[in-house]
Amino acid sequence: MRRPRFIAAQARHAKGPLGRLIASIMARETWAENQRAIEALGINEGDRILDVGCGHGRSLAVLAARAPKGRVTGVDPSALMVDIAVRRNRDLVKARRVTVAMAEVDALPFPDSSIDKALCVHVLYFWDSLDAGLREIARVLKPGGRLALVFRSAADERAVAAFPKDIYRFPTETAVTSALEAAGFIIDRSESCDEPRPQGPALVTATRCG
Ligand SMILES: C[S@@+](CC[C@H](N)C(=O)[O-])C[C@H]1O[C@@H](n2cnc3c(N)ncnc32)[C@H](O)[C@@H]1O
Repeated sequence: MRRPRFIAAQARHAKGPLGRLIASIMARETWAENQRAIEALGINEGDRILDVGCGHGRSLAVLAARAPKGRVTGVDPSALMVDIAVRRNRDLVKARRVTVAMAEVDALPFPDSSIDKALCVHVLYFWDSLDAGLREIARVLKPGGRLALVFRSAADERAVAAFPKDIYRFPTETAVTSALEAAGFIIDRSESCDEPRPQGPALVTATRCG
């Protein structure tokens, strides 16, 4: 079914009461794929973890439970999403186990080599530049740090037909793996999140070179 433009625009940058409704639907719709990304990261108890485009922040509590001696941060450019993610995780935020910051992928507010694991689920369609976004994630990851990316690719004909092209830019899987390699990653795994439907969302896991 074709997604109306105003709904797609809210997925890119949620605001107002409609944005709040979309955030709660999104938290259910993307949950299985977030769980796949979290599993793929192989989280250790002391990891410092970053969720790029965390949206509603549903992943953050699970990440904090997987890394009880670590630290979890979500970033998102939507003030509404940051507010929802902070409220959803208020106890963990109070305990300083979870932080949520307003930021875009191309200017992450973290020092070089400070993050062990990063995930980014259904976000890269909205980036100004795939290359710049992946370079910035590589900058903040420690050498040996791991990234899990989930996205629908240009091969997913249903998605390409359903979402407005000027809002959702679906890359080919090859474009993503090439950009990851150019940014200094080694590809660990590239698979469909939705077996046996190979055209379902792709999960690509990559390690930042040492
Ligand atoms: C489709 S939602 C996905 C949210 C969440 N990751 C999930 O799996 O449900 C896309 C999210 O990416 C955020 N976003 C859009 N442009 C971004 C950018 N340039 N950098 C980081 N996040 C961005 C949006 O605000 C939104 O919260």
